[in-house]
Amino acid sequence: MSGFDFSGRDSFGSRLGVIAAAAGSAVGLGNIWRFPYVLGENGGGAFLIIYLLIIFAIGIPVMMSELVIGRRSQRNPVGAFRTLAPGKPWFLVGMMGIVAAFMILAFYTAVAGWTLEYIYQTLIGGFNGKNSAELATMFESFRSESLRPALWFSIFLVATAGIVLGGVRKGIEKSTKILMPLLLILLIVLCIKSLTLPGAGKGVEFLFKPDFSKITGTTVLMALGQAFFSLSIGMGTLITYGSYIPRDNNLAATAVQVSMVDLIIAIFAGIAIFPAVFAFGISPESGESLTFIVLPGIFQQITGGMAFAFAFFFLLAIAALTSTISVLEVIVAYFSEQLNISRRKAIIIATASMFVLGISASLSWGLMRDVKLFNLNIFDLFNFTTANILLPLGGLLIVAFLAWFLPGGDTLDELSNGGTLKLKYYRLFRFLIKFIAPVAIALVFLNGLGLVKF
Ligand code: TRP
Repeated sequence: MSGFDFSGRDSFGSRLGVIAAAAGSAVGLGNIWRFPYVLGENGGGAFLIIYLLIIFAIGIPVMMSELVIGRRSQRNPVGAFRTLAPGKPWFLVGMMGIVAAFMILAFYTAVAGWTLEYIYQTLIGGFNGKNSAELATMFESFRSESLRPALWFSIFLVATAGIVLGGVRKGIEKSTKILMPLLLILLIVLCIKSLTLPGAGKGVEFLFKPDFSKITGTTVLMALGQAFFSLSIGMGTLITYGSYIPRDNNLAATAVQVSMVDLIIAIFAGIAIFPAVFAFGISPESGESLTFIVLPGIFQQITGGMAFAFAFFFLLAIAALTSTISVLEVIVAYFSEQLNISRRKAIIIATASMFVLGISASLSWGLMRDVKLFNLNIFDLFNFTTANILLPLGGLLIVAFLAWFLPGGDTLDELSNGGTLKLKYYRLFRFLIKFIAPVAIALVFLNGLGLVKF
């Protein structure tokens, strides 16, 4: 323990440990796989501007709110609401988070499995000499197989469970501090390579020059969903992590720093991907396959590219791992604290049920390709519903809880560490969580889902 009284709960050891763990949760496939393809499908530069606005006006306030709820209550997301609002239905927000956690872990671990396949391909020279069209075919045929995606998924899930079993501090803090900066360095090298490809300028324009005529209700909904997904907010990950954060940590500063790291990595991923997309003549609207087609294409242009590709996909897998452990941790904290079972048992139950859900998701283009709801396969259904519906709805209720239910003094006390920190932006924060964030989320929702039209 770190010298703070956590009545026996595990906790993060140091300030850097807190940032590393929260940033480890935030930075992952959401930045490098999801952000580029969602941006590519939703208007490029115009999407980026809306995304930035959402991060600052909604994302950071929601993240701060989650950390406040977590550290105040010292509980998992369900227990947190039960403790802070006994006898009230607020705990249902936590329940919704647990449901979201299952769905996210299922499809996210499937994608993490794809990174393992790509590590393997760098070792056997599977990308060598392939052009973009061949790389696209390679990805599609891998994804529509029935054994390999499920196998890689299973390996990744077991690795995740193993680390969560090792405990919060030992498992999460250590790996992140060294490996994340390394990933950033490789990403910057990729950016430089991508920017110097012939025809790269068009990609830069696509990413940074907004064409506002491309903005629709769906664009804004997708940007909102992507922001929540990338920051790991709206389902209680940061309530759970907040409950492990020492009393003297500055929660507002942590939220801002983590959000900035997350944003920067996403933008670098965009700079690595889009110039190459246009240089190679790939459609920016290639969807979930975009990153997996473009990156191997760039590696081929680099001397020693396959060693580089190996390192990159390895670090990407680690970044995904620090995210999957944060999602599994939510489920495990809930099971063990609310159902009063050991962490070990909780991990076994959670992992076993994840096998069923996740294998189904990972076979969404293989064995399960005909299982569809609203014309979406299992993977797409989980992906869409969590990011665009459950997380924003969770975020809306979380800020509403702080704004309208929790006594204002409690929030102030958490954010100022009992009055020892001077808060410069507290009134702005209250304004954002009271009015801007809930109203904006509600409007984006109603409009994006086609319930109301502006
Ligand atoms: N934010 C992570 C990423 O971008 C994924 C993730 C981890 C997540 N925990 C989450 C997404 C909680 C939503 C909610 O890769």
